[in-house]
Amino acid sequence: MLPKRRRARVASPRAAPSSAARFPGVTIYLAEPHMGRSRQAFLTRLAVSKGFRVLSTYSPEVTHVVMEGTSAEEAVCWQKRKTSALPPGCTRPVLLDISWFTESMAAGQPVPVECRHRLEVAVPKKKMPSPAWMLPYACQRPTPLVHHNASLSEALETLAEAAGFDGSEGRQISFYRAASVLKALPSPVTALSQLQGLPHFGEHSCRVVQELLEHGVCDEVERIRLSERYQTMKLFTQIFGVGVRTADQWYQKGLRTLDDLQEESHRLTQQQKAGLQHHQDLSALILRSEVEALQQVVEAAVTQALPGATVTLAGGFRRGKLQGHDVDFLITHPQEGQEAGLLPRVMCYLKEQGLVLYHQHQHSQQGDLTKQSHTMDAFERSFCIFRLPQPPGAAVGGTQKPCFAWKAVRVDLVVAPISQFPFALLGWTGSKHFERELRRFSRKEKGLCLNSHGLFDPEQKTVFHVASEEDIFRLLDLEYLPPEQRNA
Ligand code: UTP
Ligand code: MN
Repeated sequence: MLPKRRRARVASPRAAPSSAARFPGVTIYLAEPHMGRSRQAFLTRLAVSKGFRVLSTYSPEVTHVVMEGTSAEEAVCWQKRKTSALPPGCTRPVLLDISWFTESMAAGQPVPVECRHRLEVAVPKKKMPSPAWMLPYACQRPTPLVHHNASLSEALETLAEAAGFDGSEGRQISFYRAASVLKALPSPVTALSQLQGLPHFGEHSCRVVQELLEHGVCDEVERIRLSERYQTMKLFTQIFGVGVRTADQWYQKGLRTLDDLQEESHRLTQQQKAGLQHHQDLSALILRSEVEALQQVVEAAVTQALPGATVTLAGGFRRGKLQGHDVDFLITHPQEGQEAGLLPRVMCYLKEQGLVLYHQHQHSQQGDLTKQSHTMDAFERSFCIFRLPQPPGAAVGGTQKPCFAWKAVRVDLVVAPISQFPFALLGWTGSKHFERELRRFSRKEKGLCLNSHGLFDPEQKTVFHVASEEDIFRLLDLEYLPPEQRNA
């Protein structure tokens, strides 16, 4: 039996003042449909002793409602009854299972609310496959180009992008992972409970999905999309040769528009100047028909420079995209070493044909290939802007002339020796998130280092020899995914 004074405190609508300060923003109400009074009192004392604020009556101040042995439907009904008694416009508290409470008590502080703690949503209307089906790495599951949750994944990708603009790489990757899980689902998400048990869904991503399901828009995402910061960073990073760091420096200097950049053109690199000069064309999407035309001219140039050398389309177009921002071609020759010195000859030939508006050659930097960085590889390559003739009547950006139509397009030409070709092809096919996951999987699950040059065992100091992409998947014990299923 409790001493009288303590019981009185539990029963009062306000918590002890000392406990109010420890976790501001968290005010608990223990709802007792199945909890029973004495257990409610016991849990209240426990929480108060750990510095939590617990109210004994439901009020607008409550942020966390905790229930025990209560179904989601029951919880929702309970909340409807309760909120009807509150003034309109009150923010609704989260409805939580007792698991959130016990974990928070054990942690001595409120643990982040995860999907599995929430009681808010009724049982799914549509049966989803069990979450065990959703493997945690994007390279372990097929991700088609067209999927069922585009508006949800796009919202999360906006948050990822914005986090990237602010240099928060961890948050960026978390949002990309959650977005990628949505892309791999076999049907549309219609209720928050369908996210239960899915990997990589933290509180923030759950909240975004919940808002989108309930209101069709998410405030945070809309605010970001309309913000000057996001719009400017997006504009700047889309320019050829401009990365997040440069864009951020310009933003900090107060630059906002392409005209602002023109005024600073003396500070731009040659690549950025070319990017700005052709910006209108380069920001228009490249079509598949244009890719085919480009492949023909590149193949002609490559064959002319070295008979037997081959050109392979990589990047988004190899994954089945119908539109893209650039075209990525890999060049190789079946005989190792023959590819050396090929690219300058190819570029020379293309220039003679008047097809090159800009190009920047990068020499092969193949030293210790086990030490290649995550994003940059060491292949000989050319970053180009091609001048692609347009068929008569084709709609072109700002470059159309009466009888002489052309469009500037971004093309990357990459030369790989045949022994590294399967790795180069796998690395350059993407998507970027798929590649990131594949490398993480190799490192964490297999203890191997994968990049666009090879697969290495850092302990045994050995390299693997492969003849195809399939071989690489096999070495990693992964089921083979064709390019169209790598749209993670
Ligand atoms: P892209 O940036 O071209 O993307 O990189 P995408 O998927 O083709 O989509 P678009 O072009 O925006 O339409 C294609 C793949 O090449 C790799 C990327 O990691 C991605 O997997 N890549 C790109 C490199 O390995 N190195 C680079 O320098 C650039
Ligand atoms: Mn590409």
